[in-house]
Amino acid sequence: MMKKRVAVLGATGSIGSSTLDIIRHAPEQFEVVLLTAYRNSAALQELAAEFPRARCVRAGIAAALKESGADLAVNGIAGAGGLDPSFAAVEAGMDLALANKETMVMAGSLIQEAAARTGSRIIPVDSEHSALFHLLLAQNRRTVAELLLTASGGPFLDYTHEQLAKVSVQDALVHPTWKMGPVITVNAATLANKGLEVIEAARFFRLPVEKIKALIHRQSTVHSLIRWTDGSLCAQLSVPSMRLPLQKALYYPDSAPDSLIPPLNFDNLTLSFEKPDHERFPLLPLAYQAERAGPLYPVAYNAANETAVEAFLQGRLPFPALAGVVAHVLAQDWQAGAAVTREAVWETDAKARSCAAQRLFTLG
Ligand SMILES: NC(=O)c1ccc[n+]([C@@H]2O[C@H](COP(=O)([O-])OP(=O)(O)OC[C@H]3O[C@@H](n4cnc5c(N)ncnc54)[C@H](OP(=O)(O)O)[C@@H]3O)[C@@H](O)[C@H]2O)c1
Repeated sequence: MMKKRVAVLGATGSIGSSTLDIIRHAPEQFEVVLLTAYRNSAALQELAAEFPRARCVRAGIAAALKESGADLAVNGIAGAGGLDPSFAAVEAGMDLALANKETMVMAGSLIQEAAARTGSRIIPVDSEHSALFHLLLAQNRRTVAELLLTASGGPFLDYTHEQLAKVSVQDALVHPTWKMGPVITVNAATLANKGLEVIEAARFFRLPVEKIKALIHRQSTVHSLIRWTDGSLCAQLSVPSMRLPLQKALYYPDSAPDSLIPPLNFDNLTLSFEKPDHERFPLLPLAYQAERAGPLYPVAYNAANETAVEAFLQGRLPFPALAGVVAHVLAQDWQAGAAVTREAVWETDAKARSCAAQRLFTLG
C-alpha cells in the first residue's frame, strides 16, 4: 500500500502536534514529507530529528510545498499567515486539510475556485465544520434548512460586565475544554472564534449567513448539527478531541480503522444548549454584520481582531475593549461592491490592521 505523503504546516503548534500524534499512531499509512514552523526553531529541530526524511522550513513555505510532492497538506498555521500556504497547496493540486479558518474567512470563494481548477479537495478540520462536512456527505444538501454550530462558550460565559472588565491575560488563556494556541484561545473567550467559524461555514458550505446559527453547548460533545427541511436534525457526537476531525481529514475519503479517542460514555451524559448572549459577547454579532456587508468586510473583521488580540496579549488593551476596536474598523468603508482578488484581500488586511492600530493608539 502506498503511504499518503503529508505536509504539516504549523507543525510546532497545537493542531500540528495532534496531526503528528495521528501519524505516529499509523506510520504504515502516512509519510511526513514537510514540516513547517515560524519562530520556534528548537521545536522544529526536535521534529527534524524524529522525522529525518521530512524537509523542515521556517520560511519559503509556498515553494517548499510545491517541491514536496505531498498528497495532503494539513494547514495548522495560526492567523492570516496561513492564507498563502493554503493557496500554494491547492495550486499544486494536493488535498488541503484546513484548520486555518482565516483562509476561508479571508478568501473563501477564491480558494474554492482554485481548488475546482486543480482538482484539490479541501477538507475542513475545525471540529464543527468537519462534523457538518461528514454529515452532508450522507444526505442531499439541498434539503439543509440550517446549520447549527456549537460553541463551548469559553471561560467567561457566565461573567457579568463587571467581571469581564477585570479579566486578565492569564484568565483568558485557560480554556475549560480545549488546549489550543493563544490567539484561538482568546477568540474562544470573546466568541470571535465562533464568529470566524460562522463566516467560515457560510463560505465553505456556500450558504447565506442567516442559515448558520451558533449554539452554546458547554460539554463540547455535540460538534455541530444540521436541521433538514423536514424538521429532523442530525448531529455528530464524540468526546471532545481535535484528533477526531484531524483523523477524518488525514484518512479522507477513507475512514480510520481504529480511533485515538475513547468511546463516548452515555452512563451519565448531560447535554445542554443555550442561546449565545450577543450583548456581552458582541464579536459574534459583528461577524454576522461583516459577512452581510460584503466579501472584504470579513477580511477587515479578522485583521482588526488579530491586531486587537495581540494588543490584549501584550497587556495594552482590556478584554471588553476588543470588540470596540473591531466595531470601529468595520464602520469604515471596505468596498462592498469590489471584485475579490488576492491583491484586494491583502490590501484590505493591511489597511484594516493600520486602522485598528490607530484606534489602539487613540485609546492609549
Ligand atoms: N488548536 C485547536 O484545537 C484548533 C481547533 C480548530 C481550529 N484551529 C485553527 O488552527 C489554526 C492553528 O491553531 P493552533 O491552536 O494550532 O495555533 P498555535 O498552537 O499557535 O500554532 C500555530 C502554528 O503556526 C505557526 N505560525 C504562526 N504564525 C505563522 C506565520 N505567520 N507563518 C507560518 N507559520 C506560522 C507556528 O509556528 P511557531 O510555533 O514556530 O511560532 C505554529 O507552528 C488556527 O487558525 C486556529 O483557529 C485550532
